[in-house]
Formats: sequence, C-alpha cells, structure tokens
Amino acid sequence: MVSRVIPVDPFDLVIFGGTGDLAQRKILPALFRRFRGGQMPTGARIIGAARASMDTDAYRAFVMSALQEFSGDGSAQEIADFLSRIHYVILDADGDTGWSTLRGFFDQDDEFDEANPPVRVFYFSVRPRLFGGLAERLYRYGMAKGGRIVVEKPFGNDLETARTLNQMLAAYFHESQIYRIDHYLGKETVQNLMAIRFGNMLFEPLWNSQYVDHIQITVAETVDVEGREDYYDRAGAMRDMMQNHLMQLLCLIAMEPPAKFDSDAVRDEKLKVIRALDPVQPHHIVRGQYSGDADVGLPSYRDTVGNQRSTTESYVALKAHVSNWRWAGTPFYLRTGKRLVARSSVINVMFKDAPHSIFGADAGRHANLLTIRLQPNEGITLQVTIKEPGQGGMRLVDVPLDMSFAEALGKEGSHPADAYERLIMDVIRGNQTLFMRGDEVEAAWAWTDPVIAGWTARGDVPKPYDSASIGPGDADLLMRRDGREWRGIRP
Ligand code: BG6
Repeated sequence: MVSRVIPVDPFDLVIFGGTGDLAQRKILPALFRRFRGGQMPTGARIIGAARASMDTDAYRAFVMSALQEFSGDGSAQEIADFLSRIHYVILDADGDTGWSTLRGFFDQDDEFDEANPPVRVFYFSVRPRLFGGLAERLYRYGMAKGGRIVVEKPFGNDLETARTLNQMLAAYFHESQIYRIDHYLGKETVQNLMAIRFGNMLFEPLWNSQYVDHIQITVAETVDVEGREDYYDRAGAMRDMMQNHLMQLLCLIAMEPPAKFDSDAVRDEKLKVIRALDPVQPHHIVRGQYSGDADVGLPSYRDTVGNQRSTTESYVALKAHVSNWRWAGTPFYLRTGKRLVARSSVINVMFKDAPHSIFGADAGRHANLLTIRLQPNEGITLQVTIKEPGQGGMRLVDVPLDMSFAEALGKEGSHPADAYERLIMDVIRGNQTLFMRGDEVEAAWAWTDPVIAGWTARGDVPKPYDSASIGPGDADLLMRRDGREWRGIRP
C-alpha cells in the first residue's frame, strides 16, 4: 500500500535553537524525510537561528552530521539538495543581534499578500523562558503577521506558569497562529484511536459505562532520564508524561464524537473531558522511584540525577474518573514510568462480562478486551470468547483476533512516519487539530496541580521499585482493591 503525498505550499521555517538537541535529533531529520518524500516544494527554505557564531556553510556541515547520526538514510545527492535549502542566522533570542538579518529573508510588509499569505513558521526549540522574548521580537521586527509559531513542551510547570506563557504569546499572536506540540498526538496509532472509534460502527455503541468495565492506559519506558537530569528532577513523571501525553490519550479515548474532524471541534471535545475529570483522591495514586542494580551496574534514580534526597517520581499510577453521562462508574487507570521491564504504550478497554451465562458456572467468567498497541508493534487485538475445541462438553476460552498494522498495511504499517514529520507538515498546512489549545493545557494543569500540591503538603516519598520491573507493588494494590488487575507490560 503506497501512501499519498499531499503537496504543501512553499514555506519558510525558522528554527530558533537551530543548533540544539531537538533540532538535531528530531526537527532536521523529520524535515529531511519529508524532503525525500517530495514534500518540500521548490522555494521552501529552512533557516537555522542560534547564538553560535558560524556561517551558512558551517551550519550546513552541522546539519549534515545531524542527518548522518539521526536519520541514517538518503543518498549523497539528496543530502546535498536538502542542504541547499538550509540557511543560518546568528541570532540572540534575548537581545537584538541578528533580528534585522532574519527579517531580511522575508518580503517587506507592502509586498505581503493578504489573500495568499506566505507560509512562515517559527519553531521555538528553546527554553520556555525565551518564548516571550521571541514572540515580542518577531512582532517588533514585523514578522508576526501571518506567521505560525511552534512551541515545545514543557508548556509551563503548573497552571500559573502555563497561563503566563499563554498570555505572553497571546500578546503578539492569535491562538490560530500558535501550535503547541505534544508529540504523542503526532503518533500514527494515536491518531488511529480516532479512526477506530469514529470510523467504525462496531465500537462506538459499546463505548460507555454500560458496557465498559474499565480502561487502562500504560506508557512504559525502559529508558531513564537520558541526560535531562536537571529538568526531570524538577518535573517528575506527573508533569513530564501524565499531564500531557497520558492526558491526551485519555481525552481521545473518552471524548464525545466531534461533529467534524476539524481543529476546534476536536479540541472542544477534548477540553470537555479534562474539565469533567474528578480531582484524584490521594489513595488513588501511587508514586515510584527506580532503584539501582549494583550487579549489572545500573544506577538508582537518585544516583542518576545526583541528588540522594530526591523525592521526584519516575513512575506514577492513578485512578481517574470522568464525571459525565458516558463514563460515570467506569474508572480509567493510568500509569507511566521509566526503567520498566519493557517499552510498551498500550490502551486496554476492558468490557463487562456478559449479563448472564447460559453455559453455567463451569464455563468461568469471560469478558471482551480491546487492546490498542501504540508502540512498538502498532496494532489492535480484540479478545473474544469461543468454545474450546474438544470432543464433549462446552468449555469456553478467550482467543485474540489480532491485527498487526505492519502485517495489514505492509511497508507503510511497519514504518509509520515519525510524529515530528507529521506535526511539522500539519503546521505548514495550517492544521491545528493535533496541537494543544491554550485552554486545554491550562485545564490539564488545573487537574495536575492539586495532586502535586498534595504530595508536597504531605511530604510524600515515592516507593522504590526495581529496575526492569513493572513498577512498585502498591500500583498492583490500587487495582486489586477494586478487584481488577493490570495487564502485563510486554514489548
Ligand atoms: C517526552 C518526555 O515528552 O516523551 C520523555 O519528556 C519521554 O521523558 C518521551 O521519554 C517519550 O516519548 P516516546 O515517543 O519515546 O514514547
């Protein structure tokens, strides 16, 4: 199956922080792959902007080594063609150096065609404290008009800081110009959640508390904090993953069908879910911190971050309730952690038992389970109950109807485009559906803040858990108290 390449208009994309880690690992390789995919029309330019003193040739050499390290494909000719689109400006995000040069790349205002505005994207791949200054200078130097700005997480570290950031951006840009990235929304299978729910007749009639017993959302990682000790020790799993990525998954699973697949219709529905979340009860949440393993030379969390008194969680599991007609009485169990036994992001929708078993008590209890595997091995499995093969009697057994997207879709299914490729192309197309709106981010913080404030007030210390385990034992208790169990964490 060959995917269609939807053409985009010529564009200029400025990467503030053009020499940074994100630019090297994600943004530039993603742009290169889209270039190779035929989605960078003639005239499209990428302008790296950073403080480092270098010229365009030196920056092109820098981009080439980033591509060699983080992209790995492409012929020498393709790389050379791509590099010819790249430019560089020495620019101070905090001061006025370089801004007039950057402005010189674009037409002057009197040439700005209102009816057919040029596509100008400004990617803020810098620390959030620089966002306000960048937005103000873009405006002051006459580049805000018709421009689109892309901002990365962390978008604030609580409601107050998120509000301040929103206000700083709103002073110079309209909400329709602001693209807040949550890279989970760019993942192929995350978008598939919407296709599965709203493109099929099969699931939606059952998608409510009458038929669904509970839902589990797991985002398990094997990695540790990967060189971001300083940030992570201030953030922890609740801010780093739960407030954004798992929250977005919860929204897509729980939201009402939007009237159409357009950005505000989808985001309105997601916002309603966040606002319908009950505050999390302290006994419905478990925090964990991974221990080291001296035998194999694995440092503990505290060793990793170099803070032996750290009480930051590298794992969090909680029970959430969406208080509305659809979900009253169906809990959502969410968990995420680092250094766990396997990398696995999975959503399990556990249906209720059939209301009456005609097969008698010996047949046991059986319930359908829909498993949506986000990564790795993207696919869905529906567990159904059938008769166990055999000569006599009626014994029931649960078997999976398994669909691996890689098998079903061939090459396209096994190599879905990277989230950044999709998200950057959506910015260029001007489609905000997969980006978080300001009110959504604020609502997510409003739900997260009291949880964190509660830990601080109680002096909560996370429970230790073994590296390469499924997390702290208390997370199992959270389920068992409700007569339920987590599904296994498997790659
Ligand atoms: C990031 C977090 O947003 O997502 C990281 O800051 C985490 O801590 C990462 O490792 C996980 O993303 P993915 O795409 O590897 O699941």
